Parts: sequence; C-alpha cells; structure tokens
Amino acid sequence: MSKSTDELFKNVIAHAKEYGFVFQSSEIYDGLSAVYDYGQNGAELKNNIKTYWWKSMVQLNDNIVGIDSAIFMHPKIWKASGHVDGFSDPMIDNKDSKKRYRADQLLEDRIAKYDADGKTDKAEQLQLELDNAMKADDLNRLRELVVEHEIACPVSGTRNWTEVRQFNLMFSTQMGAVADDADTIYLRPETAQGIFVNYLNVQKTGRMKIPFGIAQIGKAFRNEVIARQFIIRMREFEQMEMQFFVRPGTQKEWFDKWKETRLQWHLALGTAPEKYRYHEHTKLAHYADAAYDIEFNFPFGFKEVEGIHSRTDFDLSQHQQFSGKKMQYFDPEVDPDTNKPYGNYVPYVIETSIGLDRMFLLTMINAYEEEDLSTEEKQDSRTVLRLHPCLAPVKAAIFPLTKKDGLPEKAREIMDTLKLDFNIQYEEKDAIGKRYRRQDAIGTPFCITVDHQTLEDNTVTIRHRDSMQQERVPADQLQKIIGDLVSW
Ligand code: GAP
Repeated sequence: MSKSTDELFKNVIAHAKEYGFVFQSSEIYDGLSAVYDYGQNGAELKNNIKTYWWKSMVQLNDNIVGIDSAIFMHPKIWKASGHVDGFSDPMIDNKDSKKRYRADQLLEDRIAKYDADGKTDKAEQLQLELDNAMKADDLNRLRELVVEHEIACPVSGTRNWTEVRQFNLMFSTQMGAVADDADTIYLRPETAQGIFVNYLNVQKTGRMKIPFGIAQIGKAFRNEVIARQFIIRMREFEQMEMQFFVRPGTQKEWFDKWKETRLQWHLALGTAPEKYRYHEHTKLAHYADAAYDIEFNFPFGFKEVEGIHSRTDFDLSQHQQFSGKKMQYFDPEVDPDTNKPYGNYVPYVIETSIGLDRMFLLTMINAYEEEDLSTEEKQDSRTVLRLHPCLAPVKAAIFPLTKKDGLPEKAREIMDTLKLDFNIQYEEKDAIGKRYRRQDAIGTPFCITVDHQTLEDNTVTIRHRDSMQQERVPADQLQKIIGDLVSW
C-alpha cells in the first residue's frame, strides 16, 4: 500500500468511528478481534444497501422471492454441505510467539513483498507453487514454501514453525441444557444452506416454476484464522445471497447472465467501472463447476466483494441423500429435441453471494473525499461523503437559522411533514457553516434552513451537498425535491 492510499484507508476508518458508522465491538473491554458494531449512521447506511439489493433482486424479478431462515440449523446440514469435512484453512503456528497464521496468507504476503521489491520472477514462481500446493491440498509443501522463503513470524521474528494443519472455520456450540456431542450445532458459515433446505417449501407454497430464485440476507459466522483490514474479514458478518434454480444444461447461460447482472448492480450506483474487475477462480470450491469474483479496488488492492458460483446440483443432491427427502422438480415443459416433457430432475443452481460489510466498506471508501475549498482569501476544506442519495443515512437536515423568534418551532413543523417518508435530522447547535460540515461528513444530500423569511412566505433555503449551491424553494415542495433525488 503506498503512503497516500494507506493514509486514505486510515482516514476512512477514523471517519467511520468519529461519525457513528462503525465501532469496534466491546470497545470498552478493549475490543473483540474481527467483530464490529454499526453505529447510528452505519446502521442506516447498511439498511439502505440491503434495501437496494432486496429491491433489485426480489422486487424487480417476479421469479425471485425472499426468505429469512434461522441461523441455527440441523447439524447434518453441514455434514451434507461438505462444511464439516472441508471448510477449513491451512494453519501454521509459530512456536516462540504461539501466534497462529494462515500458511497461504503468509506466502501471499511474501509474494506481495517480492512484487513491491521488483522481484517479479520470484513473485510469479512462488504464486505458481502456492496455487499448486493449495489445489493439491498439500500441507507439507505449504510448510516447505514457508521455510524455503525464510518467512519469519511478524511477532517473534523467528522461523520456528509447526506443521501446517487444517483448521475448520465453523463456530460450534451446544444445543439444550446437557452437553453431549450429538447436540453440537454450528453457527452458519453461509446463508445459502438455509435456502437449499427450504427449496421445496418455497417451490411448492409459492408455486414457483424453473427458472426461479430464492434470496436471503443474514448473518454468517467464520472463525477466521487471521482478521485484517477492518471489516473486510470479520468473524461475524452479513451476506446477501440468492440461489437461482435452473434446468440442468442451462447453467452456463444463467451463470453468464448473473455475472453480468450483478456487475451492473454495482455500477448503477455510479462507481467508476475501472474500480471493478472480474476474477476467475482456478481452484474451485467442492460444489462449483465455475466461479467468478467481482473485485473492487480497495486502497490495499483488488479484493473480492461478491462471488458468482455455478454450484451444479451438488447441494440439493447432498441434502436429498442425507435427509432421504426427494429434492426433485417436475418440469412440464416440452424438450424440443425429444418432444417429451423434461420431467423430473434435481435443479442446478447459480448463486450470487455478496458480503454486505465489504459492500459497506467499498461504499464508504468510494464516497469519501477530503475536498480543498481554499480561495485566495482563505484556506478552507471539508470532508464529504458523496454517497448515492438513496444510500445516504440522513436524507435531509433541517436547521433553524437561530434558536429564537419561533424559528425552531417552524423548523420542527416542516420536519414533521417529511419525517414519515425520509430520515430527517434536526440541528440547531453551532453556526450554519459548521452544521453543513457535519452533514457533509455523513453524506446528507440536502440541508434545509428555516429563517425569518420562512415565517412570512413559507419558503426555505435548500443547500445541495455536492455543489454546495443554495436555492430558495417553497417548503411545500420539499417532499417532491427530496423524493425525486432519493427515491429508488
Ligand atoms: N455461499 C457462498 C459463499 O459464502 P464466499 O465467497 O465464501 O461464498 C461470499 O462468501 C461473500 O461473503 C464474499 O464475497 C465476501 O464478500 C463475504 N465474506 C466472506 N467471508 C467474509 C468475512 N470473513 N468477513 C466479511 N465478509 C466475508
């Protein structure tokens, strides 16, 4: 990370805390690693991102419906899905510091260092060897690479490493009052399985016909070996996932469609296209026959925000086998090749899976600007969040010019006409200029000032966040002006 991007990232993190977007969890007890809380503005921004996703996936597609399944699920589900046996990271411990690391991450960091030092050949060679070792699940080779490349523990500085072992990322707990192995349940590491196990319920009760989708937003939990980069890698996070059920043989066509549709969803927020890129997976997860990530250029480089996976019939077939319940769909449509209905089959699945917290961070970074407003007469600057108005936590702030002459009462009266439709904030403390700056910092698109003229002709000044231009408008037009800009 170059100094300026490093600084930008630090400033965004500090801003997120200072303005009530993100706090370290359990901060007064010195925090809990890789767990975060969303503050008053963060919760609003997060809800708005969820609404944008839900509307574009569920509301705009009449063949996609949404559900909300429980976090606790039958433990057999995770056996069937492959998570009990295969959802793990290669872990290595330093014997001196007793610190635990992901072996592949240590090697990735070394590759980045080779790159930064201009040792491109070495970087490429190590990348190749790392990919091969990961593909082959060759834990001994991973350790050899750590040793060969003389990687030292960042804490102790020594190269005294243990063997590499697989570390399962699922959190487990006991259900019921008596501890017994049979009662061990897991906190879900993805929301997708809650969709798969409800596929028949939804298909039947919703009379859904293939192709159709089931969407869900919810918490997921992973005991990540290393936590880093703020809310990029958390132990408790949120996913917005959609499983799209298709006829076998059509998965490639739907995969391509969802890959494109999901990138468009990101770009529709006005983000510059060059900040995004696709990354094709070469090492596929146990359930996939194709996978692409949508990556965003964070200050620390391109990182995955969303995955589009062609999951075949793996999950439904596994649940059919483990539960003993038929997961088949009867397709009455006639196959033009055979002139007979397609009949019974286990559907194939295309999944779109986006991390809400990564989307949140991306949105903050993208919107954050330290703007120089200096003129020849004076130095001036502001920090502004140029959020898309639909995502802004507060849609408008309303200010009485002074705290007397009936202006606060009038401002509150106007606020009452708006607050059912929009999140409006009332502020009367400090000079107007300072109040503007506070609202710029949280991305409020409009500031409305009530002054003495308002008492005479019911007009107010409205100031636009991005242009900082002000205009005088009748108070009874505010509903429309705000609505036009912030409506979906
Ligand atoms: N159901 C498929 C699935 O869970 P994934 O690639 O493991 O796929 C999907 O996760 C998305 O969830 C990622 O693209 C990322 O945005 C987010 N995600 C995964 N692990 C995360 C973590 N530890 N912290 C925050 N977000 C995470």
